[in-house]
Amino acid sequence: MSTHTLYPSELYRARRKKLATLLGSNGVAIIPTADEQPRNRDSDFLFRHDSYFYYLTGFTEPNAVLVVFANGDSTLFCQPKDLEREIWDGYRLGPDSAVPSLGITTAHSIRDIDTQMPIMLENASSLWYPFTIHKGLSQRIEGWFKTVLSKSRSGITSPNMLCDVCCLLDEMRLIKDSHEIDLMRKAAQISAQGHIKAMQFCSSSIKQNLALCEYHLDAELLYEFRRNGSEYPAYASIVASGANACVLHYRADKAPIVDGDLVLIDAGCEYASYAGDITRTFPANGRFSKSQRAVYDVVLESQYAAVGATRAGALFTDPHQAALKVLSKGLLDLGILNRNEHGGVDDVIENKHYFPYFMHRTSHWLGMDVHDCGSYIEPINTGSLNSVSPRVLQPGMVLTIEPGLYIRPAKNVPEEFHNIGIRIEDDALVTNGACELFSRAVPVDALEIEHLMS
Ligand code: GLY
Ligand code: MN
Ligand code: MN
Repeated sequence: MSTHTLYPSELYRARRKKLATLLGSNGVAIIPTADEQPRNRDSDFLFRHDSYFYYLTGFTEPNAVLVVFANGDSTLFCQPKDLEREIWDGYRLGPDSAVPSLGITTAHSIRDIDTQMPIMLENASSLWYPFTIHKGLSQRIEGWFKTVLSKSRSGITSPNMLCDVCCLLDEMRLIKDSHEIDLMRKAAQISAQGHIKAMQFCSSSIKQNLALCEYHLDAELLYEFRRNGSEYPAYASIVASGANACVLHYRADKAPIVDGDLVLIDAGCEYASYAGDITRTFPANGRFSKSQRAVYDVVLESQYAAVGATRAGALFTDPHQAALKVLSKGLLDLGILNRNEHGGVDDVIENKHYFPYFMHRTSHWLGMDVHDCGSYIEPINTGSLNSVSPRVLQPGMVLTIEPGLYIRPAKNVPEEFHNIGIRIEDDALVTNGACELFSRAVPVDALEIEHLMS
């Protein structure tokens, strides 16, 4: 059961009001929170609310559904007060307190949803709900529709249009407000502290000849996150030593970390429902080897180029293009790509010859979800995504900037670079000037990393 509850009710009320204006006359929106997820036998995974639901309520209990009406009213279905359940599972807000605490118009027990929802759908013109996210929701909606339709001879109509409410909410969530930006700064700052702790623990363990595995650094991250009030990691932390860094979705596992290895950590905490997402790559013993440093500096230069391209008015793809240019030149300069065979930088980019070494995009949106919602294509107008233009960056958007190089052993690749995997990832707020990097409390420059670990 989540214990973190935040009710600045005005903020959430304003978001619901804004959504209401987008529903069209007499539209109704239904937004459930997440289901509890069984882990094994009678144990559940730690509950994490649905991000769309939380965005509109700030409410973290399970078994809740929000309904928003075009006239600006809202109804919450939530768990009823129940002393016995509260003794076992913890405090419940309950419908009576939900109204003043959350600033909603009315609230009911979740047990009443099947009787109340059909009444709320009577004579509505359109029904908006999150398509494909909640298992079984469309069947339940169909059941509610059947009840409304059964009254059609009394002149009652049911909505004749079904729309995906995420189209509206994705656009709203894409531009972060000042409340969200403050929380994201904090999430990134705690995440950065976790990285610093793990880096320092790593070099000091290696210097003392202590046995060290990836999971030890995972533990340092988690300790620092929780110590600073984060609920949990925003995603499964990646702690990858040596060749494991070339596995993009590697998890912190049991591999030993040894003197001479590089370690790649991709980890971020979730703080007040907002994610940090940081990657650093560092030498286990605190000193880069010559080959490691050569590759590192290419990735770092590509990240600086991408950071420079991240500003209001630029396209979402501009940072990626800027990174690609530097990475492609670096691959040629290092002799990993051969100029006689692959040509110059433009040829490498055009023919995607960089792809075996850099196979992911440079950025994604960041917010409540680590891969946050929001279209990567410029909408022609709200809800319509027919254009093929990449998204134009606007102040308030937050994205990651995370170029990398992953060099698997191959006979055409100089041996000194085999198994080097490097990614550098920071969290950037688009502004009217240079982007603000939330996550630079942990350094990126090679000398600064060495200094931090010394
Ligand atoms: N940590 C997930 C990502 O960087 O996309
Ligand atoms: Mn990322
Ligand atoms: Mn990441």
